[in-house]
Amino acid sequence: VAFAKNNAFEKLKALNANSPVAVRGTVQKKKAKASESADKPAEDSWELALEEIHPLNDFPKETIMTPETVFPPEQRYLQLRSDAELREALRFRARAHNLCKKELEEQSPPFFEIETPLLFKSTPEGAREFIVPTRREGLAYALPQSPQQYKQILMASGLPRYYQFARCFRDEDLRADRQPEFTQLDMEMSFATGDDVMRTIEGVIRRLWSSLMKDPAPEGPFRKVPYQDVMAKYGSDKPDTRYGMEIIRLDQLLPVDLIGKISDLEDPIVEAFKVEGNENDPAETHKFITQFLDSPAGAPFNNNPDGGPGVFIYNGKQPLCGLQPFGFQAAEHVEELLDPDHGDLIILQARPRAPFSGGSTPIGDLRRALHASSVSTGFKPAPTGFDFLWVVDFPLFSPSSDSEPGQGGAAGISSTHHPFTAPKRPADVDLLLTDPTQAVADHYDLVVNGVELGGGSRRIHDAAVQEFIFRDILKMPAERLDDFSHLLDALRSGCPPHAGLALGFDRLVAVMLGKESVRDVIAFPKTGRGGDDAMVGAPSPMTEQALETYHLKLRK
Ligand code: AMO
Repeated sequence: VAFAKNNAFEKLKALNANSPVAVRGTVQKKKAKASESADKPAEDSWELALEEIHPLNDFPKETIMTPETVFPPEQRYLQLRSDAELREALRFRARAHNLCKKELEEQSPPFFEIETPLLFKSTPEGAREFIVPTRREGLAYALPQSPQQYKQILMASGLPRYYQFARCFRDEDLRADRQPEFTQLDMEMSFATGDDVMRTIEGVIRRLWSSLMKDPAPEGPFRKVPYQDVMAKYGSDKPDTRYGMEIIRLDQLLPVDLIGKISDLEDPIVEAFKVEGNENDPAETHKFITQFLDSPAGAPFNNNPDGGPGVFIYNGKQPLCGLQPFGFQAAEHVEELLDPDHGDLIILQARPRAPFSGGSTPIGDLRRALHASSVSTGFKPAPTGFDFLWVVDFPLFSPSSDSEPGQGGAAGISSTHHPFTAPKRPADVDLLLTDPTQAVADHYDLVVNGVELGGGSRRIHDAAVQEFIFRDILKMPAERLDDFSHLLDALRSGCPPHAGLALGFDRLVAVMLGKESVRDVIAFPKTGRGGDDAMVGAPSPMTEQALETYHLKLRK
């Protein structure tokens, strides 16, 4: 504020900082100080010649707000107000939202946005649901885990190009990349294959990158890598492919006594990867790995019941370069396969001899954790850029797990993604009759820098095949099968072939902004362990009256 009329300056001084005001005055260019050069104007080169100021509300005196102040989640409004970066992330999110809309609506023929209901019904699609009790005794809605069934029914309804910024609800544990309530950019196309969907989504990604990012827009088509290959090479179905440390199989080469030292398993698979040491200094490498394994981050790997990691430091000054336990022949093979330099780290890890299933292997988790630690401790620089890939050819079914509800069938297997995914090739359709666990899915996940951004598939559009999967493969009980009768009826009504995908929009924005957590790109995220909104205090206890209204009784 430059100069003030009408006592305005005194009024201003009497106000608490951060209070909202109405002002009248003139915005004018500040005169440059003698110390400032003309070509480099000061950042605050504008000032206000104040004439009138009226307080509109008061900011509490006792609340201190500096850029360093950390406000609790209960005061999300003050977190937002004190953190310009957080507010900017929300503006960025809005711009990204509009660009996605534009890209899809400018397609020929265009996609258009269709809203689907949030009061849905409970169906065993895969994730745990939130239930909404009603006043009608014993009847409840369920919130959708995704608009999957509605969008497929839209394809049967003659609306062949759908998209939606869809709110989804899943009652799962909170993580940095997971919220119980989140947003998908959801889409579906009729008379289309997975390739059509992937091409369309690549267009969305390129549009976002070319409009909003400093990094170059990724060129297409993005490479497609089979699930078996990413699991073998990176031990993860959503690998960060930017920093090497690729995994190789060693078990055939290793002496039995070395295998016995790293694992009690009978005939395990042993895999290895190399971490390049900094400055070729074995002592530094030793320090790094020891600190990691002694830290809480290292504990799950040390305590792996199948054996902890075997750690070797390649050292040109030691016999067999520090690989003596390998024996001469295996050491030579390891050198050939991993091409280590003096000071590099070689990690071995055993696992049971079984086909890949699930999202990662122990050595894949170790690769990711070691890399994260190498960056956070400054042992390695953080990787830069964006490396997009499609992970394809997932198994159609996976062993059921206790942590995911699956489809509640009695077969011991569940759909790897959801039960509507089509088998990939005719041979995979045949496998449904002979050995469904070997069938490959026409599913594709979009992965970038270790994050699963989205997933989709070509769908089953033949009601008989869909019913066969529900009933004969997943062995769903009859009453659960009935839950899907609306979908089967829609497929039976001459539904065209269709395919689609959903991008996790919160994750997408977080990745674009380089944020660790989706919470940093959501205005009001859930923060507590149980998915609480600490600010409003949700979920909240049900009153006696509400219990009565909804015909509910609390169990001990
Ligand atoms: P999927 O379950 O893979 O597919 O979800 C698609 C994408 O949504 C994001 N995502 C989440 N983001 C934040 N919090 C969560 N709890 C969460 N769960 C998932 C991920 C994920 O890749 N109906 C299918 C899509 C389809 O087949 O078209 C589906 O929902 O980025």
